[in-house]
Amino acid sequence: MIIIKNRITNFSLAVFLLTVFMSCSNGQKTVPQQEGLKDYFKGRFLIGTALSDDQILGKDSLALDFVARHFNSITAENAMKWERIHPEPGVYSFGKADSMVDYGQRNNMFIVGHCLLWHSQTPKWVFEDSLGKPLTREALLQRLKEHIFTVVGRYKGKVGGWDVVNEAIGDDGMMRKSKWLEIIGEDFVQKAFEYAREADPKAELYYNDYNIELKGKREGVIKLIKDLQAKGIKVDAVGIQGHWHLDSPDLNEIEESFRAYAALGLKIMITEFEVNVIPEPTGIVGAEISQRADYQEKMNPYPVSFPDSMQQVLAKRYAALFDLFLKYQDNVSRVTFWGVQDGNSWKNNWPIPGRKNYPLLFDRNYEPKPAYQAVIETVKKAPVKQ
Ligand code: G3I
Repeated sequence: MIIIKNRITNFSLAVFLLTVFMSCSNGQKTVPQQEGLKDYFKGRFLIGTALSDDQILGKDSLALDFVARHFNSITAENAMKWERIHPEPGVYSFGKADSMVDYGQRNNMFIVGHCLLWHSQTPKWVFEDSLGKPLTREALLQRLKEHIFTVVGRYKGKVGGWDVVNEAIGDDGMMRKSKWLEIIGEDFVQKAFEYAREADPKAELYYNDYNIELKGKREGVIKLIKDLQAKGIKVDAVGIQGHWHLDSPDLNEIEESFRAYAALGLKIMITEFEVNVIPEPTGIVGAEISQRADYQEKMNPYPVSFPDSMQQVLAKRYAALFDLFLKYQDNVSRVTFWGVQDGNSWKNNWPIPGRKNYPLLFDRNYEPKPAYQAVIETVKKAPVKQ
């Protein structure tokens, strides 16, 4: 009897160990939950991150467990952009996006689709016919509709919200000059929202852009959204990208934008958040990726490590920003970081390639920085959301 019991016990133990081994050795794992950043924000707003292709593919062995611990929302940094998911006419490449969505679902995360329409990272063929001539308005609308129906349709009920239109307004507050505007006209934004709504009526739909906390551009976005609302088009949220710096934008400016967007009945999301800590070339503010500058040593002040004194400056800035987000926790529904840890940030290579930046809450070894502690302290003291 004892022998049988031991056998059963040994067998159970073997099954248990095998399960643990399997769950740790393939990409399909269910991640054990430890307390992480997201837990401190329970009942307030979602805490998200962007996932790079390598992270989605599980090539970065620490990342996926770490993300499941600290974040409850994910966005593909690149995998769902038109050039990636629909690289050629009639050819869709869903592999990475599917993996990300599976991972998000397994870990009960709110999944964000980024993005359906953008002036950038959209192949040239999208705007041309088979002879290389510019498409007509009707043909481009048809192509946009087909793209949105295919992509949104595939993830219907799985992706909770879409960046439907990304960066359609210029820094002057006018519609940005793009092929979409040139061929379709200003109502390309309206059409994109209509198609997305039809493709998944339950998904949230967002307008996403950078520098839209700043007065000039903000006014352009407010006008755009009011025009859409007047036509009966519902925009669920505005995505303020939040590619910010130690000393800008001013907190008052951000607060003013929160009030203005909330007054339109929109939820507010900080969608691509980081705080840049190294110098920017004059005139470059925001995230216009066509702007670039050459490498210069003096523009790369911390090539080895980030000094403690600067960690404190970053911590203070993060605390002040989160203080503001928490003040508007009735309106702010998600804060998504653009990268998991400093080594993943696009800010290491933009606008100057090959620098070392330290803009996130976790360092290159996945260790929390003083800024992480400062954010936790901030949320612990914030009044509870009613
Ligand atoms: O994956 C390829 C790799 O195979 C190749 O060897 C290498 C050589 O250039 O390129 C790699 O792809 C790069 C990709 O990032 C992954 O690192 C692309 O060239 C590069 O263009 C791409 O940059 C992305 C950029 O958008 C353009 O799509 C950044 O990762 C991404 O952070 C950035 O994100 C945007 C948001 O979508 C919209 N708002 C602004 C934000 C920052 O620009």
